[in-house]
Amino acid sequence: MKVHVDSDSCVGHGQCAANGPDVYILDEMGYAVSPGEDIPDELAEQARRGAAACPERAISVSL
Ligand code: F3S
Repeated sequence: MKVHVDSDSCVGHGQCAANGPDVYILDEMGYAVSPGEDIPDELAEQARRGAAACPERAISVSL
């Protein structure tokens, strides 16, 4: 599973990390860091939940 954070769209709401704490990490400014392409299956639900929680729709999740 691949998860990508569009850094141009992220404004630091932090909802991704609140809803997917094992997938999403915020940098020192509070912006989400792109977790990459190797999200294990057991974290898929967190990845989706965190993406859905972003008010800016800055996160895309794909297989
Ligand atoms: Fe950014 Fe959305 Fe997360 S704005 S910090 S990707 S909830």
